[in-house]
Amino acid sequence: MKTKIIHLEKSQIGSELDLPAKVLAEGGTVAFPTETVYGLGANALDEVAVSKIYHAKGRPSDNPLIVHIATWEMVDALVAYKQPYVERLMETLWPGPIAFVMQKNEKLPANVTGGLDTVALRMPNHPIALELIKRAGVPIAAPSANLSGKPSPTIGRYVVEDLDGRVDVIIDGGEVAVGIESTVLDVTGPVPIILRPGKITREIIESLVGVCGLDPGIESSDLAPKSPGMKYKHYAPNAEVVVYTGDHMRILAAFEKEMNQLNQEGKKVGIMLFDEDLVVLEKLIPKENDRVVFFTQGSQKQLDHFANNLFRDLRRADELGCHVILIKGVAEKDMGHAIMNRIIKAAEGRVIKI
Ligand code: TXA
Ligand code: MG
Repeated sequence: MKTKIIHLEKSQIGSELDLPAKVLAEGGTVAFPTETVYGLGANALDEVAVSKIYHAKGRPSDNPLIVHIATWEMVDALVAYKQPYVERLMETLWPGPIAFVMQKNEKLPANVTGGLDTVALRMPNHPIALELIKRAGVPIAAPSANLSGKPSPTIGRYVVEDLDGRVDVIIDGGEVAVGIESTVLDVTGPVPIILRPGKITREIIESLVGVCGLDPGIESSDLAPKSPGMKYKHYAPNAEVVVYTGDHMRILAAFEKEMNQLNQEGKKVGIMLFDEDLVVLEKLIPKENDRVVFFTQGSQKQLDHFANNLFRDLRRADELGCHVILIKGVAEKDMGHAIMNRIIKAAEGRVIKI
């Protein structure tokens, strides 16, 4: 398949979207930017179109897709009912980085929702995504636009790397704003429950509706998570990732030791850490060492930067030939919760507490 690649600035949305909108309406596949990560879209009402997404990504068929909508009418057309508190959450948080899992009606084909009787809906906060969905005139099923198991793409080039030749169109709209996937919130019951942590945190949801639960399956390796996608190996670069948590100075000392050890074995090491840590660590290692690459994540006071760089830096580390990536963990509050969730997955559970 020949993939058409369209470069588009957010500020110049116009007739360039006519072709991809038509491709979607006619049952094709289009990768497009959202504010979280790039998505790979197809008409959610068309079973054959949806099956093309699973095929292009190599995605397990029991992992349901998020359905993206651009108008409030599209929500009502797809769900069986809404809990009373959902209205307030939607009005405040949409368009934005949160998907709501609701009871679906009979309109959506079974392969969109992996056979579940619920559907995750999201109104993305990105002008290209919103305009594309509106012009296509149908709800768009869209998982992240990576090959299954790879880090979600945050720039157009990584979508091209993964999906060129496998989809009809790729819209390269530059860098995304958030960098990690949306919060997935189960709103089928009387209390909302987070199934996948994201930029919209538990604290934010609590401030709006009073209570918010957390699916215990997110963190436990014994319980099955309620969101099927959370059980798969995810976000993993080729390099081996190790996450360190605990005492700040001990972590930096461990990094220095690990770095020297791995360098002696002829291995290249990537280190992901805050600006504040780099100042300390740089004093410990010789400047001209080309077997160490630092990926700084901004200040520890501002976790947005970490979320924004994370997936891109995991891919960068692979590009630069790192064998191992050492990551300093973050406190699991606010956005830190989502970041830890993604890096522990990238590390496939290799977490060292010191
Ligand atoms: O930010 C995002 O959400 C991006 C952009 C493209 O919108 N999309 C995304 O999709 O991350 P995906 O397919 O990579 O992740 C969707 C997650 C999976 O963990 C899936 O299991 C869960 O949402 N999910 C979808 N429908 C569900 C449902 N009905 N019940 C529970 N979990 C659901
Ligand atoms: Mg994904």
